[in-house]
Amino acid sequence: MLRACADEGVPVVPQGGNTGLVGGGVPAGVAGAVVLSTRRLTGLDPVLADGTVVAGAGATLAAVQEHARAAGWQLGMDWAARDSATVGGAIATNAGGLRVLRWGPARAQLVGAEVALASGELLSRVDGPLKDSTGYDLSGLLCGSEGTLGVLTRLRLKLVPPLPAGRAVALVGVPGIAAALGVLAAVRRAVPDLAAAEIVGDSGLALLDLPAPLPDRWAAYVLVEVVGSVEELAEALTGADGVGDAVLAADPPDRARLWRYREEVSPAVTAAGVPIKLDVSVPAARLAEVWDAVPGLAGVGRTILYGHLAESNLHVNLLDVPDVEEEAVADRVLRFVAGAGGSISAEHGIGRAKTPWLHLTRSPAELAVMRAIKDTLDPTGILNPGVLLT
Ligand code: MLT
Ligand code: ZN
Repeated sequence: MLRACADEGVPVVPQGGNTGLVGGGVPAGVAGAVVLSTRRLTGLDPVLADGTVVAGAGATLAAVQEHARAAGWQLGMDWAARDSATVGGAIATNAGGLRVLRWGPARAQLVGAEVALASGELLSRVDGPLKDSTGYDLSGLLCGSEGTLGVLTRLRLKLVPPLPAGRAVALVGVPGIAAALGVLAAVRRAVPDLAAAEIVGDSGLALLDLPAPLPDRWAAYVLVEVVGSVEELAEALTGADGVGDAVLAADPPDRARLWRYREEVSPAVTAAGVPIKLDVSVPAARLAEVWDAVPGLAGVGRTILYGHLAESNLHVNLLDVPDVEEEAVADRVLRFVAGAGGSISAEHGIGRAKTPWLHLTRSPAELAVMRAIKDTLDPTGILNPGVLLT
């Protein structure tokens, strides 16, 4: 199909589960584009003795998770859209999620990829030994390429040993971002095995159709999960400055109930309107400054902040911003983040939505190399035009 499209000069927009948040998998503004869905590439090979598995690019995260679990392993990636998001999309965007602090982003799970090039040729690095130092990592190059260099068809993924069942979760109300960081630091010191650390600002929690988790409202809520007992976690929180109040859980259904206060924020924002979605990360030392500055920088509308605390990855969602102000508002926030030494996209990719700002955090030399790679692999520019590089 790619060869036919290349011959005819037809643009191709590869699409996985269509859960992306920057428009990388949609043909907006690309006249005559073909959307190439990978959703039927759902094959799952048996888990190998070396703890890797080859999955079709269109297999959902949930399907690979279940497949890994059945073989006594775990997929090192997870996020709320697990039932729709595909592993191909995850690798294509170098997605992140809820377990990055433990196992790293999608890139860290990738052993090798099979990819269909614009020419119609298939490159395959999904078989063979785990160790391989024979030149350029072509699979790695595809990670984060967002469908601009080729179409991922199969992935060999590294699985991880399952998280121990004995875990505890706390949802901690805190008076501000400094206290949130204090809670994270204290839990890290006291419980060696941290499994997750997330944050939701009060305006995000208020959008949820769930009972208030604590009797009082707090400026922000930190969700921490540890491998250990609820008693250990409670003791760690007792030693932390800034804990306003907390609710803890050890049983899986109770833990899942607390996780809903984090996982349901994103769909709740979408249900409340069409947000400007910014996905930024900053060096840890600058997180408090950025968290506090963002509502003022936005200036208009409602600011909803949540994200992945351990990686200083903040999801800035802005609702009710008038259309004419959208670009200027995004520009103010992204420039501030870049000035704080951050990234304008931590885990969602650049897609179509963030291309005007890529130059803020990638140098002219880097952009020139990216462009040269793109021109080599996709000389006629049929692959996902307008995404990542314009
Ligand atoms: C999340 O962490 O909830 C996801 O990245 C989705 C979002 O940013 O809205
Ligand atoms: Zn996220």
